[in-house]
Amino acid sequence: MNEQAEPDVLAMAGQPGGRAAAQAAAQAGAQAAESGPGATRAVVVGTGHYLPERVVPNAEFAERLDTSNEWIVSRSGIERRHFAAPGESTSHMAAHAARAALSDAGLTPDALDAIIVATSTPDLTFPAVATMVQAELGLKTGFAFDVQAVCAGFIYALAQAHALIVAGTARRVMVIGAETFSRILDHEDRGTAVLFGDGAGALILEARGGTGASTDRGILSVDLNADGSQRDILYVDGGVATTGTAGCLRMQGKEVFRHAVEKLASTASTAIRRAGLDAAQVDWVVPHQANLRIIRATAQKLGVPMERVITTVADHGNTSAASIPLALSVAAGEGRFAPGQVIVAEAIGGGLAWGAVVLRW
Ligand code: UT7
Repeated sequence: MNEQAEPDVLAMAGQPGGRAAAQAAAQAGAQAAESGPGATRAVVVGTGHYLPERVVPNAEFAERLDTSNEWIVSRSGIERRHFAAPGESTSHMAAHAARAALSDAGLTPDALDAIIVATSTPDLTFPAVATMVQAELGLKTGFAFDVQAVCAGFIYALAQAHALIVAGTARRVMVIGAETFSRILDHEDRGTAVLFGDGAGALILEARGGTGASTDRGILSVDLNADGSQRDILYVDGGVATTGTAGCLRMQGKEVFRHAVEKLASTASTAIRRAGLDAAQVDWVVPHQANLRIIRATAQKLGVPMERVITTVADHGNTSAASIPLALSVAAGEGRFAPGQVIVAEAIGGGLAWGAVVLRW
C-alpha cells in the first residue's frame, strides 16, 4: 500500500461498516503493490538447516508409553524426530542453520540487514533469539527480532521480511524458524509427546527489481489469519506472567485437525488467487509438517497431487515454526526446485494462527 492510500483506509475503518470496506481497500492496495509496475521483490537467495544429532525413533516411545510405532505412523506419518542434546538451545540451532544459508547464498554475515527468528521456544524470555544469532554471526549492524506465531511463525516471519524489503527498510533479511519443542513436552502424555521434534531452518531473502507481474521471482503474495477464541485447543500451560514456568504443550488433537484442513486449504487458495495464479500453476506445496493426513487432505482440497507436495514429517516430526524452512532447505538441497517454479507454503498452529505465502523460486 502506498503512503497516500493509508489515511483513507484508516478513516474508512472508523465509520459504520467501515472495517470491511477498509479491509477491501487495504487488500486492493496490497494487490496493487504486489502487481504494480516496478515492484520490489523479496527473492530467496539461500537456504540452510540444522537438525540435532540425536534421532529418536517411534520405538523409543513404545518402550515407556502406551503407544506403538504402528499407531504413530498410521495417525501422523511420523517415524522419527530429532531431539536437542542437553545444553543445545534454539539459538545454537538457529545459528547453524543461518551459517548454512549464508554459505549456500555465497554471502558473509555483514551482507545481512536484518535477522528474524520465528520461535515459541526461545533460549530466554529475552533478549530475542535473533539477537543471539546476530552475536553468533559476529554482527553488530542491522536489526534482529523474534516472531511468535507458533507453527505459523515462519509464515508470519516471511510476511515481515517481505514487508521490510518491499518498504525499502532492509535489502537482505535472514528468516529463521527454530524450535526446541522437546523442552515444552509432557513426556508422559502419549497424545503429544510422540508428535514433536527439534530443529532449525533458514532462508535469505534479497531485494530484487521485478516487473510487478506474477512471472517475477520472489514472494508474490501473503495471507495471514488468527482466531484467538480457539486458544484452548493448543497452548502451553505456563508462562512468565502466570505460572513463572515454561509450561508444557497441551493439545486437543482432533479439534486442531478439524480446523487445520479447512483453514490451510482456504489460506493457500487465497494466497494463490492473490498472486494471480491458480492451483494448476503451483509446482510445489511446502506445508507445515504436523501430520501426513492433514498434508494429504489439504493437498486434495487444493487439487494438487502429492507428487508436488514436499513432506519431511516422517523424519522430523512436527518442529513447529522450523518445519517449513527445514522442508524447503532439505528439498532445495536435493535439487527439487527449479528457478521460476511456484511454491506455496502454508501453516497453522496455536492461537489459532494460520497463513500462506506464494513465491516463485
Ligand atoms: O502443529 C500444530 C498443529 N497440530 C496439528 O496439526 C495436530 C493435529 N492433530 C493430529 O495430528 C491428530 O489429531 C493426532 C495425531 C494428534 C491424533 O490423531 P487422531 O486420529 O485425531 O486420534 P485421536 O486423538 O482421536 O485419538 C484416537 C485414540 C484415542 O483413544 P480412544 O479415545 O479412541 O480410546 C486416543 O486416546 O488414540 C488414542 N491415542 C493414542 N494411542 C496410541 C492418542 N495418542 C496415542 C498414542 N498412541 N500416542
